[in-house]
Amino acid sequence: EKGGYPSFMAKEINDQPDAVGQTLLGRTDAKGNLVLDELRIDESILRSVDKIVVLACGTSAYAGQVAKYAIEHWCRIPTEIELSHEFRYRDPIVNEKTLVVAISQSGETMDTLMAVRYAREQGAKVVAICNTNGSTIPRESDAVLYTHAGPEIAVASTKAFLAQITATYLLGLYLAQLRGNKFRDEIADVLADLSEMPAKIQEVLDNSDPVKELGRSMADAKSVLFLGRHVGFPVAMEGALKLKELAYIHAEGFAAGELKHGPIALIEEGQPVVVVLPSPRGRDSLHAKVVSNIQEIRARGAVTIVIAEEGDESVAAFSEHVIHVPQTATLLAPLLTTVPLQIFACELAAAKGYDVDQPRNLAKSVTVE
Ligand code: F6R
Repeated sequence: EKGGYPSFMAKEINDQPDAVGQTLLGRTDAKGNLVLDELRIDESILRSVDKIVVLACGTSAYAGQVAKYAIEHWCRIPTEIELSHEFRYRDPIVNEKTLVVAISQSGETMDTLMAVRYAREQGAKVVAICNTNGSTIPRESDAVLYTHAGPEIAVASTKAFLAQITATYLLGLYLAQLRGNKFRDEIADVLADLSEMPAKIQEVLDNSDPVKELGRSMADAKSVLFLGRHVGFPVAMEGALKLKELAYIHAEGFAAGELKHGPIALIEEGQPVVVVLPSPRGRDSLHAKVVSNIQEIRARGAVTIVIAEEGDESVAAFSEHVIHVPQTATLLAPLLTTVPLQIFACELAAAKGYDVDQPRNLAKSVTVE
């Protein structure tokens, strides 16, 4: 049932074009409007929402962090992402005008379930984004937007993550459409870009031999750092989490802009650093800023592995390794840039002889607080 792959995780990484494709399927009408029939929350309530709070744990929380960038940009609704287990212990401000989005692959994560219950007690409406039909969190929420990644067997989440990000994009675009804000005219373009993602993810998979090789060659690494900026920041944290979970080595994700505020002190000769480089076509010269971060850490001895957009040769001359992914819109890039990091962690851990499907000390669903 591993479909010829050495592990469920490898299979699920390769299932990702389908996971994203299935999650997009049937959610637009012939005119290209989003139809989220399952979102059974009164449209007038969705129109009057003045804040979105995304609640999740672990990898699902990184999907929520990506969602914040997209939803705020498209909908202009203030959006927070909070770890479920922190949320209800700090007297959070939630009320009838708050839309809570609870993201959970399993639908059984106790921390997230308790946060959902708390939010509803405060009068908030809750939409669950979930991969498991009929599980507890969707049952206890006001509405559910299912991700259609199919069952995820490996303990470390991969295809569910990409499907969750996709579902949050759909939710954000739907709210933008419903609220008729300025961004409305661009929705069709984003949907067109999204429809190309399964093929682009497939391209990343088809070109993954170098990153596999790299993962295997780094089996002796004691620590790997990950840097990203904007939506690349949660991707960096997800890359680090995968490596901790699977390979049991120290890994940490940082916002690239934070380097000089502390983490650069960690850089010494030979320190591997994976950098998620923003598109050079993006606004705000973030690309140039991260390129200069790469130069700063290289000058201090870091060995850099850069995830860059196809055609971006800006770091070719001074980075040890460059992994290219297809071009896409800035906000959609996590669907591509995450994939090499998953493969890297999977290969590195497998090269160490570890069971990538059943990492030590971890359970697939965490049903205790
Ligand atoms: C990481 C991982 C965990 C889960 C987290 C939330 O690979 O699998 O961090 O993402 O335990 O689980 P769900 O999404 O089921 O609520």
